Amino acid sequence: MANTNLGKAKSAKNDEFYTQYADIQNEINAYIDYNPDVFKDKTILLPCDDPEWSNFTKFFVNNFERYGLKKLISTSYAYNSKKVSFDYQPTLFETVDSRFEITKSKERGKIFTLTKDENNDGKIDEKDLKWDYLEGDGDFRSDEIKKLRDEADIIITNPPFSLFREFVAWIFDVKKEFLIIGNKNCVTYKEIFPLLKDNEMWSGRTDWSGGLWFETRNENDVDKVICGKNMKNVSSVWFTNLEHGKRHQPMKLMTMEDNIKFSKHKEIQNIGYKKYDNYEAIEIPFTDAIPSDYKGIMGVPITFLDKYNPEQFIILGATQRGCHDEVPDTKKYDDYWECKPNGEKTGSSGGKTNENANLVQNDGKKNYFVNTEGRIIQSAYQRLFIKHKEN
Ligand SMILES: C[S@@+](CC[C@H](N)C(=O)[O-])C[C@H]1O[C@@H](n2cnc3c(N)ncnc32)[C@H](O)[C@@H]1O
Repeated sequence: MANTNLGKAKSAKNDEFYTQYADIQNEINAYIDYNPDVFKDKTILLPCDDPEWSNFTKFFVNNFERYGLKKLISTSYAYNSKKVSFDYQPTLFETVDSRFEITKSKERGKIFTLTKDENNDGKIDEKDLKWDYLEGDGDFRSDEIKKLRDEADIIITNPPFSLFREFVAWIFDVKKEFLIIGNKNCVTYKEIFPLLKDNEMWSGRTDWSGGLWFETRNENDVDKVICGKNMKNVSSVWFTNLEHGKRHQPMKLMTMEDNIKFSKHKEIQNIGYKKYDNYEAIEIPFTDAIPSDYKGIMGVPITFLDKYNPEQFIILGATQRGCHDEVPDTKKYDDYWECKPNGEKTGSSGGKTNENANLVQNDGKKNYFVNTEGRIIQSAYQRLFIKHKEN
């Protein structure tokens, strides 16, 4: 379900998804719990953030004093550049301001900054937020926003889904601390996977199951309405290079022998672990079925990253897009063709590009590949290759 939603979001290039306040709060709490001074004296930049609609600005304004921030900067992307179907609605704060000009408001991005108690009422809150039009449209790739990026210590946002790779590259150009939202499936992108593998980026605190619910402004693509708000579920997760405690909690695992005896998964209990046909590794279909005592290479679902502790495991590769130099595939499938579960040929062949982790089996549920001798293989879902860290 969530994957289908992502597909729709991608094809329509719908980038107008707004993060819920409670989701931001839950995630940020993990960094504060780990290090209460994580934001102290820091400049935080919230790019791609439409503060009129977004909760990121609200959240950090509300917590500016508690976290001891030095400066908060938030920028929005111009209405005209968004290419959306809804009409422009100027907010009250704009229209009551003498600088308000409707053309400028549509064409330019805006910048909001908070540094101190501007109105001397004894507290720092939204009344102290200053705003102005940007020179350009607020595109994160512009020199104007790059300058703000360079000034910031930490970059936090839910960037446009359609530009996720570019956004991550933009952060890594300058190696800043960051906390961002991205799609689960981006972990095997060839630009993103090496960062996860090398521990330059990791999963945030929020669990991966269930995805995240966003407020959407696309009335034609709504999953449910909550308190009058149109909501959409997307298989999104948080990514960061900030430390949090979950990342250092070891997974509690059973030995291989105990898994085979007691695993709750019928695919493992009394059956054991299968070896791939084309990789020197064993198939682990569920993260909680990783055997604690297996010394070799294991193929695990990408959701392993939600539980990954770098003191416990090493990530070696991923099945797709050539991301497995350290775990090379040992076989190509030129003489195989693909069939649906009912035996009908799909017209695709196995081919040189089949870098999936393949198993010699036919579960009767998924498509399979067969060669002229009748040998059958089936591809597992995307897999990461890992092994236990030797101490
Ligand atoms: C997924 S929404 C998230 C909004 C807000 N950060 C939040 O989480 O509530 C991404 C926002 O980025 C804006 N955007 C799209 N392309 C952009 C670009 N090139 N530069 C800056 N912002 C962009 C979109 O218009 C949208 O408002």
